Amino acid sequence: MPHPVIFDTDMGVDDAFALTLAMAANALEVVGICTVGGNVGVDQATANAGRCLAALCPTTMPPVGRGRDPSDAGLPDATSIFGADGLGECGLPVPAGWACGDAQTVYETMLSRHPGELVVVAVGPLTNLGALLDENPSLLAKAQRLVIMGGAVFCPGNVTPKAEFNIYRDPIAAAKVLSSGLPITLVPLDVTRKVALDESHRAHLAASSTRGGRMLATMIEYPMSREPGRPGRFLVHDAVAVGVLLWPELFLQTRMAVRVAVDGPDRGRTVPVVGSRESSPVSVVLSVQVTDFVENLLELLCSEEFVV
Ligand code: RIB
Ligand code: CA
Repeated sequence: MPHPVIFDTDMGVDDAFALTLAMAANALEVVGICTVGGNVGVDQATANAGRCLAALCPTTMPPVGRGRDPSDAGLPDATSIFGADGLGECGLPVPAGWACGDAQTVYETMLSRHPGELVVVAVGPLTNLGALLDENPSLLAKAQRLVIMGGAVFCPGNVTPKAEFNIYRDPIAAAKVLSSGLPITLVPLDVTRKVALDESHRAHLAASSTRGGRMLATMIEYPMSREPGRPGRFLVHDAVAVGVLLWPELFLQTRMAVRVAVDGPDRGRTVPVVGSRESSPVSVVLSVQVTDFVENLLELLCSEEFVV
């Protein structure tokens, strides 16, 4: 029986990579996609979800719910890395007549339909989850687990020297979620920075017989030429969070409470809290068997059964 998943996303290229992986995996069923502002604004993120779904053309089309956009003025986006549209300006069309609903409704419907089984994979700012905790705390408690790509626990950030993008964009929501006591697995830059694809991997995807493989091969060309510091590489950040669900044996994780700095020069910093009784520990993924992960990733994305 596949595990039901809600994919909460700001729909950049690495989000598209993660979504394609989740939809290719027989062990998972994406039963909902909820969008949030981050890499691009929430309306563009929502359109990107539709563009990817139209390209992948899955047997069952998951509902897409438009979520929220962190409100702070002057927040960074990722258009310099992922292009103005967030998907590497890959030219995928927005499907004609495609419509989306509301993220809150997707959460309410799917968490009620799959109580205790549904995993939320959150790979953008945690604004939607923070709002659910404020408005309907018992609802999110129906999730089996939250797997969150975000944070920089023992390594430098990627937006400031101390903060990672998803947490930085909405640190108040992140602080709420990470201290909620919910069963959370945090997948920070400490581990996601270790998984980079290069041109040989891209060529492998381009030569595959699957829609997902070919779509991603085109999509990653733009960010590969713009990865700060190391052009020719593509960091699959969000796909690592899906990998934690699919291949847990490849990862090392530990338990600790994580505090989020919500303002000032440390805004968005995720600080490990050791030995504090009143805090809520989460699982933090700190390392991965990179070669095996990349092999599994490419095999699943290029596998025949995903040709739809
Ligand atoms: O810091 C990496 C994260 O920020 C990824 O989720 C990427 O898509 C951006 O949202
Ligand atoms: Ca993301």
